[in-house]
Amino acid sequence: MALRVAINGYGRIGRNLLRAYFENGADPALEFVAINDLGKPEALAHLTRYDSTHGRFAGSVALDGNLLRITPAACGWSSCGNVSPPESSLRELADSVLGAVAEAASGLAPDAVPERPRSESRDATRAIRLLSEPAPEKLPWAELGVDVVLECTGQFRARRDAERHLAAGAKRVIIGAAPFDEVDAMLVYGVNHESLRASDRILSSVSCTTNALVPLVKILDAAFGVESGFMTEIHAVTSDQVVLDHTHRDVRRGRAAGNNIIPTTSSSIGALRHVLPAVGANIEGYSLRVPTQNVAAIDFTFVARAPVSAAAINAEFAREAAGAYRHILSYCDEMLVSSDFNHSPYSLIFDATETRVAGRQAKVLAWYDNEWGYANRLLDLCRYLAAR
Ligand SMILES: NC(=O)c1ccc[n+]([C@@H]2O[C@H](COP(=O)([O-])OP(=O)(O)OC[C@H]3O[C@@H](n4cnc5c(N)ncnc54)[C@H](OP(=O)(O)O)[C@@H]3O)[C@@H](O)[C@H]2O)c1
Repeated sequence: MALRVAINGYGRIGRNLLRAYFENGADPALEFVAINDLGKPEALAHLTRYDSTHGRFAGSVALDGNLLRITPAACGWSSCGNVSPPESSLRELADSVLGAVAEAASGLAPDAVPERPRSESRDATRAIRLLSEPAPEKLPWAELGVDVVLECTGQFRARRDAERHLAAGAKRVIIGAAPFDEVDAMLVYGVNHESLRASDRILSSVSCTTNALVPLVKILDAAFGVESGFMTEIHAVTSDQVVLDHTHRDVRRGRAAGNNIIPTTSSSIGALRHVLPAVGANIEGYSLRVPTQNVAAIDFTFVARAPVSAAAINAEFAREAAGAYRHILSYCDEMLVSSDFNHSPYSLIFDATETRVAGRQAKVLAWYDNEWGYANRLLDLCRYLAAR
């Protein structure tokens, strides 16, 4: 039986999730049964069809009372008919490098594009119930038999708030962000998701940056030993920021997003310390919000315990992108810019052109689509739950 999934909060992450589900082949192991958001149904349908960052939805989106009826197009990709699937360019990019390292990586095929289940029923119309209820405990999760709520409002990140979905009858909640306090499991798909226990009910898939930072640090630490490190997250704007100067809990985030580079906190450092406590204890960092629409980068400087060179670091990431981390890590040695990584499904794309070494200090750069990559990891977690 399919895992019955509901989305709470149909904003950037909620909509990316649903699009990614259809683009990836509408896996029959998952069934999206409801979306709860306070926006009007017409607006939610419109924003499903059109997206300034990821293009038009491939297929038809119709509103039928409180049902969102979605029929994906045969091609399955955003902007279908206008551009090739973005993964094809990533595949070309990866193939040039991975072909060279595949032999060294014990015969693994040089295919860095995440494996995606294809479904024969991918063209079938799906009906998803639209709800508009601000209080999670009043949502009809028991009536709808919801197995998992993907909590994507940004409003219910504390345990006792997430628990309100359980009170409504959901079996599990995945908070789509770093939690404000203790949850049953903080999961970075591809790194520690298999630590999930049957009894865990309130989960967090941490942040987009944490999904990039944790594997980056883990790989470096395993290969060279990370004595200490500093991360600068360079992040596109999010709807937590404002168009023009406005009051905000963080006075800097309250400044005009399109006109400033805005230093702010990053939840990824706390989450890194939780997932990788030993190495995380000596890592610090912060975020710079920059006036771009999507895609982020991690600039990570560390002191290595073992002798290190740029070539050795690059070789390590090329090897891992063809091996154990192939589903979440890609490797790039072309001179690209942030928009080239828009719509990338990876948690991180290691940029081999920017690796630098000075003595025992080294600096690396990794890109990630903070929306699309993250939405794909949430779907991965759902598929993992469905398969258990
Ligand atoms: N954007 C990213 O790059 C990114 C990446 C990873 C994780 N995240 C995390 O994902 C979460 C959502 O971020 P986002 O960027 O998707 O924000 P967003 O675009 O503002 O989406 C949040 C949506 O939830 C709705 N909402 C607010 N309160 C609600 C309630 N009580 N019940 C139902 N719907 C409600 C909002 O409606 P209104 O707009 O009408 O309030 C909005 O449509 C945050 O926790 C964020 O930290 C974001």
